Amino acid sequence: MVDVHPAWLPPAALRVLASRRVLVQGTGLLVDTVRDEVVRAGGDLVTDGGELVLTLSNVDGLHPEGHLLSRRDGVTTVLAGAPAGLLYGLFHVVRLGGAAFAADLPAREHRPALARRMLDHWDHVAVHPVMGQVERGYAGGSIFWRDGARREDLGRVRDYARLLAAVGVNAITVNNVNVHEAEAHLLTDRLVDVAAIADVLRPYGIRVHLSVSFAAPVVVGGLDVADPVDDRVRAWWASATAAVYRSIPDFGGYVVKADSEGQPGPFAYGRTHADGANLLADALAPHGGVVHWRAFVYNHQQDWRDRSTDRARAAYDHFAPLDGTFRDNAILQVKHGPIDFQTREPVSPVIAAMPGTRVAVELQVTQEYTGQQRHVCYLAPMWSEVLRFRPFGDGGPAVADLAARDGLVGVSNVGDDPFWTGHPLAQANLYAFGRLAWDPTLDPAAILDEWIDLTFAGAAAEVRGPLHAMMDGSWRTYERYTAPLGVGFMVRPGNHYGPDVDGYEYTPWGTYHFADRDGVGVDRTVATGTGFTAQYPSPWSEVYESLADCPDELLLFFHHVPYAHVLRSGSTVIQHIYDTHFAGVREVARMRSRWRDLDGVVRPDVHARVAERLDEQLRCAEEWRDQINAYFYRKSGVPDAHGRRIY
Ligand code: GCU
Repeated sequence: MVDVHPAWLPPAALRVLASRRVLVQGTGLLVDTVRDEVVRAGGDLVTDGGELVLTLSNVDGLHPEGHLLSRRDGVTTVLAGAPAGLLYGLFHVVRLGGAAFAADLPAREHRPALARRMLDHWDHVAVHPVMGQVERGYAGGSIFWRDGARREDLGRVRDYARLLAAVGVNAITVNNVNVHEAEAHLLTDRLVDVAAIADVLRPYGIRVHLSVSFAAPVVVGGLDVADPVDDRVRAWWASATAAVYRSIPDFGGYVVKADSEGQPGPFAYGRTHADGANLLADALAPHGGVVHWRAFVYNHQQDWRDRSTDRARAAYDHFAPLDGTFRDNAILQVKHGPIDFQTREPVSPVIAAMPGTRVAVELQVTQEYTGQQRHVCYLAPMWSEVLRFRPFGDGGPAVADLAARDGLVGVSNVGDDPFWTGHPLAQANLYAFGRLAWDPTLDPAAILDEWIDLTFAGAAAEVRGPLHAMMDGSWRTYERYTAPLGVGFMVRPGNHYGPDVDGYEYTPWGTYHFADRDGVGVDRTVATGTGFTAQYPSPWSEVYESLADCPDELLLFFHHVPYAHVLRSGSTVIQHIYDTHFAGVREVARMRSRWRDLDGVVRPDVHARVAERLDEQLRCAEEWRDQINAYFYRKSGVPDAHGRRIY
């Protein structure tokens, strides 16, 4: 048995309920969960009176997952119209801690801003020869699957569901978007495994979703086509889906990666992605399910010599013309940036381009391109920027508003590692994902405070300062020592860890930086480049098109410039590259020494794990600094203005 870290719900985090008299009114599975939590926290369940009263009742106008919280005359009251609201209300009280039982609180409704708050697991049932048990997983094996089968003991899944309920997550996809042979069977003869997981998630208000293969009618259905307009195909999906709902009545729906990186899709039959998505939407509609259809469609077999193809354009070019043709239960799941979860990307133009289509935004909680849970990289500041971004400029809706009906999807960073996320501090990303999906206006530093209070319950006061110093700016630190100014990639091909500046430069993947002796960057302007900037509405189309107005951090995403180009910051591009790379490494060294000071303050196992990862982060950051600086020095011949060591 591994000793599993309690993440943000150690017993001490719930001590505000200990020996408190709590009245829970209502019936049902989730209400039982509320009672269990109270008992588990050492609370005293009473049948009348109580200093905390949680009541399920029909309140007009209350959001089904919302709750009214108030405190008067020494009684704290949580009122919810539906069971999930009661559970979220209880965890709200836990988060408030002592403040929930101190001064009076005027009644206020708390409700989620985004409807579906979903984690996608990129877990395989059968260990994949290249990707392993969890694709892009940096936290060990899968909590659901092991060596081709469902795990017998779903205890970890139960604990996970509890952690997620505490941050408001209400949906989980249990298998990777890349659906191979073994996983294709989850839809049919291995459905019983999915149902078993659904049973464990249900008491925490979490619905199960399944990634399916577009070719399922062929792969597991025995048909010779998967053409969306073929009646046999339509009938097959209808009957397979009906069977799913017979065994999992609250099943959430399907997630589909089609015509992408080798996955099958409607293009094989000359059909559109709307035809494909609507096929599944129609099968799900009678049961109230939704299909999440991914917009991550691009040519991954591009000729690098071909300067007319721009991967950034692909999702918009494929999907924007289809706006208005998707069924009402089809949700287009769009990665937050146009390329692929890079450390810095502009917001995807697709999010604003499809007013007649339901759109969910996809984030990557697993740190594929942001240090793979060996580096400290608190991602909430990035996500917050994305969610607050206003594609139509000030006064227009924010990304969070555009996705409100449909939601936020995060690729999970959890595995069977005793610390859940490999790097114990990466738990904060999972926590922040849920909290931002609930309320995208939350301040990332305030979310970190919540996480610190709950996770380090006994030692929060001592760790707060050092953890803020280490984590608040850690995304920007990571950005400083990796690919500069939004150009992206420069990672080692395949595993995507560590530097390899030209690793992808002459490959079919469409991720290039075009550095030569004179300059660097991708010209995506209308005037002289790929025309990608025109996919944005005003004012961003003009801002990004203009060399003078384009924000520094995205300059090389949109423009190819000479090394001597002067940034808005006043520095030249080449000097900026040197300066940020030296600074990034210094910041990591400071992080490491701050953590050393916490020896004896946090649990020894947590301390040791983080310390070991910080050693690796520093080593890797130095490697990045030296390779990037050497590369650009050799290309440009421009020396560092400060004469520092470049190899
Ligand atoms: C990235 C990642 C793949 C993943 C893909 C996706 O390209 O490297 O492993 O399958 O994203 O989002 O589908």
